Amino acid sequence: MAQSVYSFTVVGIDGRVVRIETELLHGISGVSIIGLGDQAIKEAKERIEAAIINSGFDFPQYKVIINLAPGDMKKSGSSFDLGMAIGLLLASNQLVNAARDLTTLGFIGELSLDGRIRPSRGVLPMVIKAKEEGFKSVILARENVLEARLIEGIEIVGMDTFKNCVAYLKGKETVVQPVVTKSREAPTRSQPDFHDVKGQKELIQYIQIAVAGGHNILMVGSPGCGKSMIAKRIPSILPKMSRDEALEVTKIYSVTGGVTKGQIIESRPFRAPHHNASTNALVGGGRLAMPGEITLAHNGVLFLDEIPQFEKRALEALRQPMEDGQVAVTRVEQTNTYPSKFMLVAAMNPCPCGYYGQDRCQCTDKEILKYRQKVSGPIMDRIDIQKYVTPIDFLKEYEDEDRIESETLREAVERIRAIQENRFSGEEGIHNNAQMEGPLIEKYCVLDEESKLLMKQAFQAFHFSARSYSKYLKIARTFADYHGHENILKSDLIMALSSRDLEKEERDLLK
Ligand SMILES: Nc1ncnc2c1ncn2[C@@H]1O[C@H](COP(=O)(O)OP(=O)(O)OP(=O)(O)O)[C@@H](O)[C@H]1O
Ligand SMILES: [Mg+2]
Ligand SMILES: [Zn+2]
Repeated sequence: MAQSVYSFTVVGIDGRVVRIETELLHGISGVSIIGLGDQAIKEAKERIEAAIINSGFDFPQYKVIINLAPGDMKKSGSSFDLGMAIGLLLASNQLVNAARDLTTLGFIGELSLDGRIRPSRGVLPMVIKAKEEGFKSVILARENVLEARLIEGIEIVGMDTFKNCVAYLKGKETVVQPVVTKSREAPTRSQPDFHDVKGQKELIQYIQIAVAGGHNILMVGSPGCGKSMIAKRIPSILPKMSRDEALEVTKIYSVTGGVTKGQIIESRPFRAPHHNASTNALVGGGRLAMPGEITLAHNGVLFLDEIPQFEKRALEALRQPMEDGQVAVTRVEQTNTYPSKFMLVAAMNPCPCGYYGQDRCQCTDKEILKYRQKVSGPIMDRIDIQKYVTPIDFLKEYEDEDRIESETLREAVERIRAIQENRFSGEEGIHNNAQMEGPLIEKYCVLDEESKLLMKQAFQAFHFSARSYSKYLKIARTFADYHGHENILKSDLIMALSSRDLEKEERDLLK
């Protein structure tokens, strides 16, 4: 009868149980691994054979069949090595009367040729799954212990070598100390604070509104005016993450970065991919269908600096994930779905030289228009707020009271978010003002006569485009929420009408 041992894999950012069945048959000796494994799994044969022999066991001289079930799920990576090697010892009677119950025990780990157990990616979602499925314990590489222990209620056993692992299964207590390893660019606890920013009160107010209402924002300004500095501080005013959100982010970093520091990631991510980034790097892909920047920014901020420099194709690829809040990444015969809910913050110079509006700018209207039109289209359609950033006067003394702490801004954001949650409690999938469409806009963005007239005048004066109309309404709604107004007041609309600086200029440039 085939021996069964359990291991795990990751699909998207969720764990799945994999049953490893090992069968020894008479025939020409050799190993075949079946069950939709990738190249890394095919290469497991050599690793397992060397590890078994170098740990002082015999490699069975049979026709060995290892089946990874379920057979209709693609599997990748090297984390099945340990389970497969244990299965082989069981099948060849080298591990009889195991003292531990193998039906409630899972194995995760790659084997090195000399029999050491190496860490794996995606341990967190695997352990979550193990617990859900009723497993009592999981054996894995000691480097993975801290991460795995984030999940309570399941025993985590860290092992350094295959030999020790077998001894443990036979009943010997082998205590192995966990290892602290470095994580890969996971968000850290201390975030930069808006208190560092001098002046820029108006801009910060619009940023706060953007965050509160879920509006994406574009900052336009000359080099050095503080766009990057400000963008980096946006995560600090997003609402605190719930435990579920934090766990979700930690799972993503577990899948992509190998091991985290053994801490739940509490601060929202801030990702700033370079404009040379490939479409795969942005949305996910490659041979292993790994998550991209938009998933690494999940629950946080994706900052696209110098957005006109991004490839048009890459920007267009962002559109669907932004609409869906998730992204489907496809590789041969399999699609991984990753979450991708993020706030988009973009920045650009106002013209090719960067100094539009100043004497030193020699760009022609045509050049400026061409530069700006690079970002028109699908992405611009999803950006509600566009604000100019004017450089501050560095010679001026900025008083402390002119500065705002992120915490103060964030508290107001939480308050405005709560108003929206309440408003949209009956609307499936809608949580903030930015997500409103047609009928909801009509329902919640009612203008009084005075405001209607103002809107009309503004559209005539500035030739706003029709598709911007609803953007102004939604932003006005967020300003109204900020001030606790039940209905949009004229003062809210006035603020909203100054939230799209580029649009106002377009008419002049087109002349
Ligand atoms: N409002 C401000 N308060 C304090 N420091 C500022 C402010 N604005 C700019 N700075 C300083 O100027 C530096 C340059 O700002 P930053 O890199 O954010 O500019 P930028 O707009 O992103 O420029 P670029 O277009 O070149 O990317 C910052 O590191 C910061 O030290
Ligand atoms: Mg910058
Ligand atoms: Zn210029």
